[in-house]
Amino acid sequence: MQMTPKENNLHTVFDKIKDRREKEIYLKQRAKVIWFTGLSGSGKTTLASLLEKKLFELNFFCQILDGDNVRSGINKNLMFTDADRVENIRRIAEVSKLFMNCGIILICAFISPTNEMRQMAKEIVGEDDFLEVFIDTPLEVCEQRDPKGLYKKARAGEIKNFTGISAPFEAPENPYLRVDNTDPDMDGTVKQMLLKILPEIRFDPTKVI
Ligand code: ADX
Repeated sequence: MQMTPKENNLHTVFDKIKDRREKEIYLKQRAKVIWFTGLSGSGKTTLASLLEKKLFELNFFCQILDGDNVRSGINKNLMFTDADRVENIRRIAEVSKLFMNCGIILICAFISPTNEMRQMAKEIVGEDDFLEVFIDTPLEVCEQRDPKGLYKKARAGEIKNFTGISAPFEAPENPYLRVDNTDPDMDGTVKQMLLKILPEIRFDPTKVI
């Protein structure tokens, strides 16, 4: 059973901590969570790194959270059952919120395969701060690329609950941005992402006071 902080005798100090707005002013940016969803091998991590690089060149301060990294650290006790995936996404969304409260722009790259999981992440982060980016690479293309050799193993039955093969992936119906990652012009794809994202993260000094 889940208890409220009060019932649990917890006294959160968020109201005593310097607030997010002050940190955003310091960093001259607006914090957001850019949430990439898509199949394994769809290019989430590659595009997240390219986007981070571009944003860094433009003086934005970002942090990438990525499936394989997070699952080797904070979430190393989680597997790929439905319940563990939900817990994976829940923790990531909570961690993203902490970063966001430091004024940092998050680029999260997780399969996050169901509408329910993404909805949960959106609710934890806050609807206005959650930019869902669907890396829309068809299963056939991901399977053909198979950069980690996992589709081959999944087809051979060596990996259970593999997204797209033996576990579901629900494409988002209304993402903030849909990216066609079959286009070999990745610079063009990153530009397209920048055009949509920059207005959301740009610091507007006229709104400081
Ligand atoms: S999620 O479904 O919980 O969002 P997450 O993005 O953290 O997944 O991790 C996905 C990565 O874990 C994949 O890119 C792949 O490298 C690896 N992986 C290992 N087993 C599986 C599996 N059964 N299904 C999907 N990805 C898996």
